[in-house]
Amino acid sequence: MKIKLLPLVISCVLFTSVSQAQTPSIHLNKAPAASEAVWKDDSKKMDAFIDELMAKMTLKEKIGQLDLQAGKGQLTGSYRNKGYAKQIKAGHLGAIFNTVGAKQTRMLQEIAVEETRLGIPLLFGYDTIHGLKTIFPLSLGEAASWDLEAIEKSARISAEESAASGLHWTFAPMVDISRDPRWGRVSEGAGEDVYLGAQVALARVKGFQGDDLSKPDTIMATAKHFAVYGAAEGGRDYNSTDVSERTLRSVYLPPFKALVDAGVSTFMTAFNDLNGVPATGNDYLLNTILRDEWGFEGFVVTDYTAVEEMVDHGFAKDSKHAAELGLNAGADMDMVGQNYFKHLEASVKEGKVSVATIEKSVRRILEMKYRLGLFEDPYKYSDIKREKKVVLSKENLLAAQDVARKSMVLLKNDNKALPLSTDIKSIALIGPLADSKADMIGSWAGLGDRKTMPVTVLEGLENKLGDKVKINYAKGASYNYKGNTNKGFGAAMVAAKKSDVIVAVMGESEKMTGEASSRTTLTLPGNQIALLRELKKLKKPIVLVLMNGRPLNLNWADENVDAILETWFSGTMAGNAIADVLVGDYNPSGKLPMSFPRNVGQIPVYHSMKNTGRPFSDDLKGGAWNYSSRYENLPNTPLYAFGHGLSYSSFDYSDIKLSSNTMKMGGSIEASVTVTNTGDYDGEEVVQLYIQDLVGSVTRPVKELKGFQKLMFKKGESKQVSFTISEEELAFYRRDMSYGAETGDFKVFIGTASDKNKVAKFSLVDK
Ligand code: BGC
Repeated sequence: MKIKLLPLVISCVLFTSVSQAQTPSIHLNKAPAASEAVWKDDSKKMDAFIDELMAKMTLKEKIGQLDLQAGKGQLTGSYRNKGYAKQIKAGHLGAIFNTVGAKQTRMLQEIAVEETRLGIPLLFGYDTIHGLKTIFPLSLGEAASWDLEAIEKSARISAEESAASGLHWTFAPMVDISRDPRWGRVSEGAGEDVYLGAQVALARVKGFQGDDLSKPDTIMATAKHFAVYGAAEGGRDYNSTDVSERTLRSVYLPPFKALVDAGVSTFMTAFNDLNGVPATGNDYLLNTILRDEWGFEGFVVTDYTAVEEMVDHGFAKDSKHAAELGLNAGADMDMVGQNYFKHLEASVKEGKVSVATIEKSVRRILEMKYRLGLFEDPYKYSDIKREKKVVLSKENLLAAQDVARKSMVLLKNDNKALPLSTDIKSIALIGPLADSKADMIGSWAGLGDRKTMPVTVLEGLENKLGDKVKINYAKGASYNYKGNTNKGFGAAMVAAKKSDVIVAVMGESEKMTGEASSRTTLTLPGNQIALLRELKKLKKPIVLVLMNGRPLNLNWADENVDAILETWFSGTMAGNAIADVLVGDYNPSGKLPMSFPRNVGQIPVYHSMKNTGRPFSDDLKGGAWNYSSRYENLPNTPLYAFGHGLSYSSFDYSDIKLSSNTMKMGGSIEASVTVTNTGDYDGEEVVQLYIQDLVGSVTRPVKELKGFQKLMFKKGESKQVSFTISEEELAFYRRDMSYGAETGDFKVFIGTASDKNKVAKFSLVDK
């Protein structure tokens, strides 16, 4: 087998004893916005301005720019410094988060600009993750739409609401790849796949940052958490990670690199340690890879109190040592803990940190303030009139409803249980999530209202069906882990007995997902399954509507209910969107961004696994023991595979046509299929392209996603769908860690899911 370098391998850095290639640019559906376009720098003017400003700054003022404090408002960690107003007045604070609102931010900005010696404006940050007040589906849910335009729009609207409320900066997107659904924060990302993860991340950053960061309705985005946070051992939040250089570069880094190429403004460090070094003190990640190798020009903020947590990690002896480690490693801004603010002056005196290092970080932060246009007009984001007009506007709410519908995944639909027949006269609407406003918008839902605004499924169905259908509602069960009685079962059975169909709305509470919400089981919590078992005895059609922020174990439901609709936590307009799907006003088009395991014991289970030397077999012929790589009690496959998702329609795929069975190095081939909508509904389908490299200088995954297209097909319509395959789709980190393709044979798969596709073969040959 011959090995050829791709031209993008331009330099090597040293890590342990292996030589490294640069992390590749991920192949994109759409060209990324270059940072120049987003920042529109006149760098000479900017440099001169910052030189002049920094010449006037005292060391204390400089160190103040590196400090980020949690203001009044929400608390997203367990500590807040109450004296931050004094610090602003002294000209010793660079940035604030968790203070939101045109009025509140203006008030603090006035102090910084008008009452301090140098008048340097503050930066206001916030976790606008899936909406500020108009709440969109959880990030994992949005990723399930595989609809990059919809995802970008959701981020755009979130940016508009945030910017009008005085914010300059969101701590999103989270681009941590994760293959462990026990980890509560899978809800904040885009799932298990590198390619999909990078595409979704790019769409989000484009939405937040727009095409010009100095516009008053665009905000800085943050690529977080750098890096490998999603690989927390055992899925337990904050836990250690240990991954090889190959896995780091092949799986965890590409979405981050894609965002650097797209001009993302800031990075956030991760809480975890990686191969023994906490990410916040990790010079290799922050300086060697991010800055030297990738050329990142924005600034790096630490995660919440992550600097002093290096003491608990056993990496720093005290918070002063931690501050030195963090700053020297390249973490520019210290979130909440004030370690830089308290200690760096002394560290400079002792020669532990140089003024030049501090100044480098200060400059990076001032540059972003300059690029946002804050030195020209520090108040342009804090606009009370705009805030009133933009936040929770009718258009925003309708957009949220649309994105919510697009994010839902129809996991199962037997006996045409969905859409609900128009003959139905009554629905038993049952379950702890059927009418729970507090849960609808999920975790990390910004300033989203949880009391009155969210539309529940009960309200959504009533809005949709009016008097035409009787809805018999009963909560019936609880999702709480403990303290459940089955008292509510009786009312649920009564409701079900007098109804034509049972719609059970079940899942997790919103608090079971997100940060510090890892779980050791993935079954429906509480006594929900017990209630479903009772309902099943009535032999009526059962539709299970799920709300949850992670893949669940749905074995019982899969065997026993007629239809399952995964709705995640789908935001302020959830109930209306769910009603649209249940009655067929919207034909579901979402696909899973993460495999749903059969049980926790299978974790990690993901589509791009390796074959092993003893690939799975269920062959027990001859009574011999089966020595293949398998579990004795379950198949290796997940219950629902990555990319799975049904429609009310059906799609037929022709065999794959390749423009050639051989591809030359440096060339490309086309792979096409004809997809036909053979069902009774117009509908969208996500056509997915996967590739397998059959023999490599290192073992290769059985399948990797390399492209997708989400397309609308009218009833009966056929379309030819083509993908271009070039060396870029075939490249990987080879045995010597250089990046590129190797000649040999490949399989190409095109289909409706990672486990349902057509296959063809081609060879990559030398010129
Ligand atoms: C989270 C970050 C978040 C930060 C600020 C931390 O606990 O890990 O993702 O941006 O808090 O709220």
